Amino acid sequence: MNPVSSISYKKYFPASQFSSETIQSTLNLSMTSLQGELKWWQSGIIYQIYPRSYQDSNGDGVGDLPGITARLPYVASLGVQAVWLSPIFKSPMRDFGYDVADYCDIDPVFGTLEQFDALVAEAHRLGLKVMLDYVPNHTSSDHAWFQEALTGKASAKRDWYVWRDPAPDGGLPNNWKSFFGGPAWTLDEASGQYYLHQFLPSQPDLNWRNPDVRAAMFDVLRFWMRRGVDGFRVDVIWLLAEDERFLDEPENPDADREVVGGQIEHSTLLHIYTQDQPETHDYVREMRRVIDEFDDRMMVGEIYLPLDKLLPYSGTPEAPMVHLPFNFHLILLPWDAQTIRQFADEYDAASNAAGAWPNWVLGNHDQHRFKTRVGAAQYRVAQTLLLTLRGTPTVYYGDEIGMENVPVPPEKMVDPSGLQQPDSPDAGRDPERTPMQWEAAPGAGFTAAGTEPWLPLTDNFAQVNVQVQEQDSQSDLNYFRALTRLRQEQPALVGGSYRSLDSGHADVFAFERELNGERLTVWLNFRGEERAVAATGQTLLSSRGDQPAAQSPLRGHEARVVLG
Ligand code: NOJ
Repeated sequence: MNPVSSISYKKYFPASQFSSETIQSTLNLSMTSLQGELKWWQSGIIYQIYPRSYQDSNGDGVGDLPGITARLPYVASLGVQAVWLSPIFKSPMRDFGYDVADYCDIDPVFGTLEQFDALVAEAHRLGLKVMLDYVPNHTSSDHAWFQEALTGKASAKRDWYVWRDPAPDGGLPNNWKSFFGGPAWTLDEASGQYYLHQFLPSQPDLNWRNPDVRAAMFDVLRFWMRRGVDGFRVDVIWLLAEDERFLDEPENPDADREVVGGQIEHSTLLHIYTQDQPETHDYVREMRRVIDEFDDRMMVGEIYLPLDKLLPYSGTPEAPMVHLPFNFHLILLPWDAQTIRQFADEYDAASNAAGAWPNWVLGNHDQHRFKTRVGAAQYRVAQTLLLTLRGTPTVYYGDEIGMENVPVPPEKMVDPSGLQQPDSPDAGRDPERTPMQWEAAPGAGFTAAGTEPWLPLTDNFAQVNVQVQEQDSQSDLNYFRALTRLRQEQPALVGGSYRSLDSGHADVFAFERELNGERLTVWLNFRGEERAVAATGQTLLSSRGDQPAAQSPLRGHEARVVLG
């Protein structure tokens, strides 16, 4: 039988609810042909959960570990491979967990170590991997190490952080700036020295030049891997080392055009002494050797750098570094078919040349929701792109149901990045961190009725939620599942080569994926007008929810995947 004729649209877009176990076993089965060639972090999708906002199980308005565990069958039903949890460690929460006070314990707001073990066991039962957020560049100022360092220059932990004397005029040691605005130095009045912090003053930078720091931080990785953790997302990995001369950083002549994440003041300098230093590469290689002490583990590095500086973070076969250096370019580039085609071509070729496995990201807890960014009309085009390009996709919780930025009134803002940079409308990250929308009931199924969630729910959660979308075969949720199912059943979408096609239109991005003679083409219309395309074969999936002939014109904002 011709395999093509057995594929029907219904198969990818069924009305009935999905069973997580069925999806996961399909995933395991259809990936068999690729197993041995591809690792789980290459063939699978990473799903990021922001724990404060996923599921509150104890009615305090903040999400927690038992809440996540209860929702894991839903996560498995999405057809993803791994969950990455943003930080769950003990923390005063001044940067909502990215300020760690104890790397080897769970913050009580999230639960206990036993509850964490239960989460890992349930994830593994469902065939899901678990990734933690590892924050090596800085601790919380509450961490016992920093408290000890503060006792004076003679403290054994003093050199675990980065200290400088004041400049000769008594002022700041140099012009380095914090990502959240203001200087990267704070004076410790007791000793008369400044300490470095690339983020909040309550997030002092660790001194990675000190081998004891590295040893202690590597033991943290071992602690969690022994507990069954499968991988790590490594926070700001490209910032680990600073140039030892502590020179002023030069002004950025393109500051206006290069503001990332609303960090206006930080963008005024070129960060040639605080980012991407040769020593950082050494430390990452050392970190990788620790990961490789355990079987089949991985790490993905948070790195905001241009391609030529990003890909070297994969390392070489002899001296590997991170398994995946996060590629944030779909977030940073203008949403334009030609620009994205050009980048995808360059990235794919450069990844191949570097022997690196590609990866793609549309959203995370630091960036505005992609549906808001690209516009509702382009939402499915973007989702299709993410899940059909060559490389590991990372999906931010709620993007599968089309969550958008939620306006947060000033009195409810909590993110320090927004609060410290009131003149930068894009600096606040609260709008993309709001509670998951599970159902139409009060509290949206996230928290108990009558409990105020830590961030406000969107006004339209009664319309946009998991429960409503489960019932609707045409929903964003079921479109997402249709895409992940397509990946599971069409190995070319996972392991196949990538080549862009000349679509004949500046606003249509088309590309093919090919594996062992099986060819799929993906057609993405970035505009609202119909466009004639030269597609041939059989349409497997359309963002419009029907199955038009492959050669029929692409409708406005349509995404189409074609076999043949
Ligand atoms: C990057 C994280 O993604 C962000 O949320 C955090 O504020 C900074 N690192 C500081 O840890």
